[in-house]
Amino acid sequence: MRKKILTIAGAFAMFALFSISTRLAAQEAGLQRYTASGCAACHGASGQGNNLGPRLAGSGQPLEAFIDYVRNPVWSMIAYPEETISDDDLDAIHAWLASVDMAPQRVGSAERGAMLYRRNGCYQCHANEGQGGAQGPRLGPNPITLTRFTWYSRHPARGMPPYAEAVMSDQDFADVHAFLAARPQPPSLEDLPQLRP
Ligand code: HEC
Ligand code: HEC
Repeated sequence: MRKKILTIAGAFAMFALFSISTRLAAQEAGLQRYTASGCAACHGASGQGNNLGPRLAGSGQPLEAFIDYVRNPVWSMIAYPEETISDDDLDAIHAWLASVDMAPQRVGSAERGAMLYRRNGCYQCHANEGQGGAQGPRLGPNPITLTRFTWYSRHPARGMPPYAEAVMSDQDFADVHAFLAARPQPPSLEDLPQLRP
């Protein structure tokens, strides 16, 4: 009896070791693909970010959204189609980035964000509730990821002034992002009797 229990325990231990080692192998493959595909050049050797791209490690971005951005980036990042890098490789890169030991993303305070949004003039172009207007696009209530939100505000492409670290810290952006995420949803078309056919 005792021997049988020991055998079962042994089998469990072997299985646990096996799953850990396959996971480690996937992460290692992810790091290798990350470096070989040139991601490291813009996102740093450990995904910590540099002056060409934001930090990716510890962002907690879901796999689907991660792959979607790599395939269809919006601003300065180059696009990687399926022929250049497979979904499996991106899955491995995503797993490796999630395993990098880095502090998780900041939690924002919507209340403090409301104050910063006014103090730093965002409202002048993006309107009081982030709904946008003639001077700037809508920013809420479903803002882009905090990573891109912060990156864009520091490196805007066209009409928006850049906000350097000294003016808006990473925490300040997390707070403004939380404020925008908490804005009320605009009414749906069904709720506007004037627009009903
Ligand atoms: C030429 C520089 C460059 C390279 C190479 C690059 N990126 Fe990017 N990446 C960026 C920049 C800059 C951004 C910020 C948004 C933008 O400007 O498009 C970004 C944003 C992202 C985002 C969005 C993150 C978020 O939370 O919203 C993901 C995911 C990403 N990169 C993954 C990758 C992966 C994976 C690779 C390699 C296969 C890669 N990038 C290669 C520059 C680069
Ligand atoms: C002088 C006007 C102006 C001010 C002030 C301004 N923005 Fe903008 N912003 C723009 C315009 C115009 C765009 C559209 C793209 C461009 O021209 O850069 C934009 C785009 C953005 C985007 C990209 C949105 C997207 O989905 O593409 C973000 C994020 C953003 N602004 C955040 C902010 C924040 C946060 C502040 C305050 C700290 C701010 N902006 C202040 C004019 C402004």
